[in-house]
Amino acid sequence: MASSGSNEAWGSRIGLILAMAGNAVGLGNFLRFPRQAAANGGGSYMITYFIALLLLGIPLMWIEWGIGRNGGKYRKGHLPGMLAAIWKHPAAKYLGVVGMIVPLCVMIYYTYIESWTAAFAWFSLTQDYWGHTTQEGMIGYLRSFQGVPVEGMTPVHSSYTPYAFFAGTLALNIWVLSKGISGGIEKLAKIGMPILFFLAIILAVVVLTLPSQPGIGTTPWQGLEFIYNPDFSRLDEPSVWLASAGQIFFTLSVGMGSLAAYASYLKKTDDIALSGIATASTNEAVEVVLGGTIAIPAAVTFFGVAGAMAIAQGGSFDLGFATMPVVFQQIPGGQFLGVAWFSLLFFAGVTSSVAMLTPIVAFFREEFGFKREHVAWTLGAVCFAFGMMHVHWLQHGFLDEWDYWAGTFGLVLVAVLEVIVFVWIFKPEKAWAAIHEGADITIWPVFKFIMTYVTPVYLLIILGWWGWTDAIPILLNEKTAGGGVVTPEAVPYITLSRAAILFIAVTFLVLIRAAWKRNKYDDRQGFVEVPQTGEAA
Ligand code: PHE
Repeated sequence: MASSGSNEAWGSRIGLILAMAGNAVGLGNFLRFPRQAAANGGGSYMITYFIALLLLGIPLMWIEWGIGRNGGKYRKGHLPGMLAAIWKHPAAKYLGVVGMIVPLCVMIYYTYIESWTAAFAWFSLTQDYWGHTTQEGMIGYLRSFQGVPVEGMTPVHSSYTPYAFFAGTLALNIWVLSKGISGGIEKLAKIGMPILFFLAIILAVVVLTLPSQPGIGTTPWQGLEFIYNPDFSRLDEPSVWLASAGQIFFTLSVGMGSLAAYASYLKKTDDIALSGIATASTNEAVEVVLGGTIAIPAAVTFFGVAGAMAIAQGGSFDLGFATMPVVFQQIPGGQFLGVAWFSLLFFAGVTSSVAMLTPIVAFFREEFGFKREHVAWTLGAVCFAFGMMHVHWLQHGFLDEWDYWAGTFGLVLVAVLEVIVFVWIFKPEKAWAAIHEGADITIWPVFKFIMTYVTPVYLLIILGWWGWTDAIPILLNEKTAGGGVVTPEAVPYITLSRAAILFIAVTFLVLIRAAWKRNKYDDRQGFVEVPQTGEAA
């Protein structure tokens, strides 16, 4: 049966590449990366980071594009369908459910964080945080905005302020989604990505020309040295390896099914080999060069190397939302640089968050025939409802739980499924051929070996190690998802946050079952190919 949505396609190759790069380049590049690099020893972290890029990130990038374009032949933009298209077994669709839970959960809290960047761009323009000139003072301001009570501080904003920014940010995301692939996502990328590059380059140049500060004496270049000077001293710490692998997943957007969803709108003869590596390279250039040149060198200049490391080890958002505003208040033109920094984060964020709901929108359109606009706005309401819990209970570790289970562990789980189904069940020969169909380049054959053996083993080691050191202790409430001590008051919130994820999981499982019944799919037969009308030039 030809399902709805089969006529959607990318408008042009440049649009596709920008949208894919927009998907990958996000808050991960400018907030998560610098913080992780500084917290995990700079030069040591970078060595493990590049190893993970080669052995996990790049192979998984091609695998996701391959799975996605293959799914597109049957007009399947969601993982349950994509896996079922390859592995003709009734279990495939149910396993694919992780590829629905993860993007929905991440979308919800990611969009909330994205809304902070909009808020802080506004607060920079209006100089709302001016006067909070110390790191402690700015952290207080940030916590107060986030609704976390700060001792000895009267709340700076009304408790409705974060709701208002969240609602606005979410509405913008949904509006873009409701306009479709070429009419919404591709247009957004064509506008947002050039602005992002422009702002990032300006900020990087400004940071590198910062003079050293009296009483501190470090220069921005020492910040760069800290990250880029290879350092072998911490390579024996598994946590450094795990952190960098987690970052590679997050920053490249692999293990979410969102790249696959984008790739499903390609024709079966379109190139994916060159486009896949182009996307990964763009993301890495932005992350390592631009992402590495803004927050860390700025922090090192104003707080010294040890100071910057200490900040990075503190709260996840302190570097971007507290340290940077402290810096802006002390340099000429800081008001506008503040607007530039938070706008940069906002554009990076929005071109990623729209990607996360793409597989979910695809599922409802393809399997139930709903209209795109209706699906988008309904999902928006669902995201807002769940998002309210994050807004309200951030202080109780609600967001940290989701970030761990969906945004860290979940990504690896999806990746394991993808590799097993695409490389092992489909068979390496077929997978390799599928990636090369219509390809503009021939991939170095070593990658075939890596995909078949190295990537899966690496993934299983990570999964096992994480299970042992994090997942089990977190599940047993021996430590929090944020790495802290579990207080008795936090337990009900932690339980609730897991119950919410479970609720989403069960709902999707029921919907998958309903979809298969409704469309009378025969798992052993597979799907019927749909004619492809779209063209990507
Ligand atoms: N890669 C994005 C970032 O770096 C996050 C993301 C993950 C986006 C998964 C889409 C899917 O911020």
